[in-house]
Amino acid sequence: MAVYLDHAATSPIRPEVLLRYTADLALVGNPSSVHGFGQRARMVVEDARESLADTLGCHRSEIIFTSGGTEADNLAIKGLFWARNNADARRRLIVSAASEHHAVLDALEWLEGHGPAEQRAQLHLLELDANGMFDLADLEKFLAERSDEIALISLMWANNETGVVWPIAEVSKLAAKFAVPVHSDAVAALGHVPVDFADSGLSLMSVSGHKIGAPVGIGALVVRRDVNLVPVNHGGGHERKLRSGTLNAVGASAFALAAAAASATLQERAKRDSALKQKLISGARNLVSNVEVTAESVSTLPSTVHLSFAGCPGDSILVLLDMAGVAVSNGAACQAGVIGASHVMLAMGRSEQAASECIRISFGYDTTERDVEEFLAALPAAYEGARKAGDAA
Ligand SMILES: Cc1ncc(COP(=O)(O)O)c(C=O)c1O
Repeated sequence: MAVYLDHAATSPIRPEVLLRYTADLALVGNPSSVHGFGQRARMVVEDARESLADTLGCHRSEIIFTSGGTEADNLAIKGLFWARNNADARRRLIVSAASEHHAVLDALEWLEGHGPAEQRAQLHLLELDANGMFDLADLEKFLAERSDEIALISLMWANNETGVVWPIAEVSKLAAKFAVPVHSDAVAALGHVPVDFADSGLSLMSVSGHKIGAPVGIGALVVRRDVNLVPVNHGGGHERKLRSGTLNAVGASAFALAAAAASATLQERAKRDSALKQKLISGARNLVSNVEVTAESVSTLPSTVHLSFAGCPGDSILVLLDMAGVAVSNGAACQAGVIGASHVMLAMGRSEQAASECIRISFGYDTTERDVEEFLAALPAAYEGARKAGDAA
């Protein structure tokens, strides 16, 4: 039996979402058209907006539908940087961290490397400790010294590789004292820990559908009503002129349903996932002597387990587990089939070698105890095989 423990990469469509989505695919009409077909499609979008806003704790007018998390992150970071820099040319600093998802990191690096020299972004990446945490006091000190030059702060709600959860509401509170807007990539957090936009104090928040049981191709940027953004996409002026492009009515509806379902079951799943996580960790420790749990002493998502195996290449463990029918991830960027060291683990001070000796196991709505047992049953042989590969290297 195949076991899927890679929900942080993408989670299977929830059955109830699949039913609605496949039925809705027959929908005719562009939501921007004035005729009846268009208006019916518009109603699907607006119902979805209302429902998603309810789930995310924001006003419906604050939701800008996008194609997913990557687009939401790009619009947030570029749009806010340009708006803040246009209003005051001194504001060129962006505060973030090297453990962010590439959708954030690469957008930051692009702003640092493009445009007229005097308008390029300057990056201030917070130092992380071995648990992937930053020091709020360091952030406060930097804000106190340089707030006039800061365009924005972008810090993720939860890390998609290690599951480390950051104190986003505290960051927002601190930043508000210095009138600096904060964006958070909440793609990995949504559906696994409570995410409430209004309570968070954020200016901007990115979310994505396919991580929580909706289809790929739909996400949203939540934009607080007083926040100005310069659009990245130009065209028909959809979504308050912030994201031009024909609205994905069917996707929006599926996303809203998946988010509502994830939110309604959050507490019981968190309880179940915490128990599964404990079972997996103690099982792995009994089976393998040199397993290390990443960030064990700080707050992490109940649905994510990140393990390091000294001397065992993570890609070998991953392939051997896959051959045994168990799908996990090493969480690192995988381009053209080459798996490198995890940039997240590097940002946490690990060596290149240590940063390539880890795997991520992530649970979703349909994960069972049996899945964890199958993982544990396959682990010793995968570990032994990977250790030999490590010795031979
Ligand atoms: C934390 C985080 N941000 C952003 C993204 C990108 O989201 P999407 O795949 O919807 O573009 C991902 C997906 O892996 C993610 O885990």
